[in-house]
Amino acid sequence: MSTSAIATTIDGNALAARLRTDVARRAEALKIHGVTPGLAVVLVGDNQASQVYVRNKVKACSDAGLHSVLEKYDATMTEAELLARVDALNNDPAIHGILVQLPLPAHIDANKVIEAIAPAKDVDGFHVASAGALMVGQPGFWPCTPYGCMKMLESIGYDLRGKHAVVIGRSNIVGKPMALMLLQKNATVTICHSATPDLKAMTLQADVIVAAVGKRNVLTADMVKPGAVVMDVGMNRTPEGKLCGDVDFEGVQKVAGFITPVPGGVGPMTITMLLVNTLEAAERDAASRA
Ligand code: GUN
Repeated sequence: MSTSAIATTIDGNALAARLRTDVARRAEALKIHGVTPGLAVVLVGDNQASQVYVRNKVKACSDAGLHSVLEKYDATMTEAELLARVDALNNDPAIHGILVQLPLPAHIDANKVIEAIAPAKDVDGFHVASAGALMVGQPGFWPCTPYGCMKMLESIGYDLRGKHAVVIGRSNIVGKPMALMLLQKNATVTICHSATPDLKAMTLQADVIVAAVGKRNVLTADMVKPGAVVMDVGMNRTPEGKLCGDVDFEGVQKVAGFITPVPGGVGPMTITMLLVNTLEAAERDAASRA
C-alpha cells in the first residue's frame, strides 16, 4: 500500500502574527521620538467586499498601535473631489501612508488617483514610481500581496536562486510585481496568463508556483511537480459559498512540498505588509527629519 505524502501548510496567520508583533514593537519605538505611524484609508462607494477589506485594514492598524483614519465617501463623489482629498492627505504630517481602496466608481479614473498619491506615502505600491523602483531594484514600496508571498517563502527558508518560478496571472497588483520580486532573488521566472496555450506544460516545470488569477481550480494536482512550493493568491467562493483560492487544495497538497491555504494563507499576509509599509513610511519620515 502506498501512502501519499502531504505538503507542509504555510500558516499565514501564524507568520502574520509574528510580523505584526514586530511592527507593534517598532511603532512603539517611534513613539518615543514623537511619531505615530498613520494610515489613511479612503473608500468611495458601497462595494460590499471593499467595506470588509477596509474595516480589516483599520482594525489591523489599531491592533498594532498604528494611527488610522477611514474616510468613506458616497459613490457620487467626483474625481476632482477625490483628488483634492488625496492632496490634503499628501500634506498631512500625521499620515504616512495613503490607501485608496479599489475598485473606484466607473466615473473616476483610478490611475489618475493613484498617480496623485505622493510616492513617499504610496504604501499599496501601486504608483508608477513604486512600480519603476521595484523594476530597477531601487528602494520603494512593494505591493503588499506579492511582498507577503516573498515573506512566506523566506519563512520556510526557501532559496530561490536557480529555481524556476511560474506565476499564473499578470495583474499590476500581483502577477507582474511578483515576477519581479522572484527575479530579484535570482529565480528563473515564467509569467503565464489567459493566452498561454499550455499552462500545465509550464507549471509541471516549476519549483515554485504562484496562482493569482481569481478563478477556482486553475491549478490541479496533475499540473504540479512533486515537492513544488504552491502559493495561492486567489480569493473565490465555491458554489456552496465557501471561501476558496485558485488552487485545488485537496488534490495539490498530495503532490506539493509546501502549500498556502485559503483562508489563512496569503490573505493575512497582505494586510501585514500594509502595516509594514506604513511603519517604514513613518520610519523614513522620522529619519528624514532627525
Ligand atoms: N482592492 C483589492 N485589493 C486591494 C488592495 O490591496 N489595495 C487597494 N487599494 N485596493 C484593493
